[in-house]
Amino acid sequence: MESDQEEAGLEWQVGVWDRISRIYLQDVDQRFAPVVENVVARAGLKSGQQVLDLGTGTGAVMERVAPVVSPRGDVVGMDISRDMLALAQQRLAGRGLTNVSLREGRAETVPADDGVFDVVLASLSLMYVIDRGAAAREIARVLRPSGRLVASVWAGPEECDIVLFQQTAGRFAGTPPVPGVGPGALADLSSFLNQLADVGIKARVETETLGFDFDDFASAWHTLASVTTAHLAPERQQEAKEAVMAVMYPDGDGPRHFRNVTQFIIGEL
Ligand SMILES: C[S@@+](CC[C@H](N)C(=O)[O-])C[C@H]1O[C@@H](n2cnc3c(N)ncnc32)[C@H](O)[C@@H]1O
Repeated sequence: MESDQEEAGLEWQVGVWDRISRIYLQDVDQRFAPVVENVVARAGLKSGQQVLDLGTGTGAVMERVAPVVSPRGDVVGMDISRDMLALAQQRLAGRGLTNVSLREGRAETVPADDGVFDVVLASLSLMYVIDRGAAAREIARVLRPSGRLVASVWAGPEECDIVLFQQTAGRFAGTPPVPGVGPGALADLSSFLNQLADVGIKARVETETLGFDFDDFASAWHTLASVTTAHLAPERQQEAKEAVMAVMYPDGDGPRHFRNVTQFIIGEL
């Protein structure tokens, strides 16, 4: 990919994550908690370990992991979005956690020395990484020998309602500046597993059916699509809403369960 295109893509992504950060903390975090729990459960964490949380967002994984690895272990959270990091900082300080630190950076160029982490976690973040081959190399570089990677990614729209919702709305939002990123981008994991194998990380995939609920269409739209469609003209926004309603609320508005098949990558160096 041309580096200009990658730069434009990154700038666009940072803007979206910055703008979404408050909604994320208020309305998304609680819904993604079962995914975070499943990531942490597969990490086999022990007291004293050094952990990197790639794409930490508002710090949900860090909050869960820091007490497990304390007092001698530390958790470093990394993200491209300063606004996400600011909310993570407030959240972690509010819990009185001291074995945590945050860094601005990309999975493609992790700001850390070689071989310093026992575990790398990446909950629902790798689908947004523009150069996943580079991210695989960086994960292998910062892991110590026999270190572990645990990541979660959504399955495809036919099995994962959040992906169906966001892809249907996204079709109205214009072409993003970079291809191949988005909630369903790692539904097929074969290329990424090869990229991990190329850098010496042997990985397997486990699948769980998880989910969350919304009381009505308006709250689902606000949470999952209001930021990414905010720039659209009102008529175009309305078309996008009608398309999502038609696909996901065929019986009309009301409470809806989102059934989200979720894939967990468990890798070892
Ligand atoms: C869906 S959120 C997940 C946040 C958190 N891990 C969780 O499970 O709640 C995705 C996060 O990945 C971050 N992200 C996207 N691309 C990234 C990249 N290339 N490197 C690091 N973080 C990235 C976004 O800024 C966002 O905070």
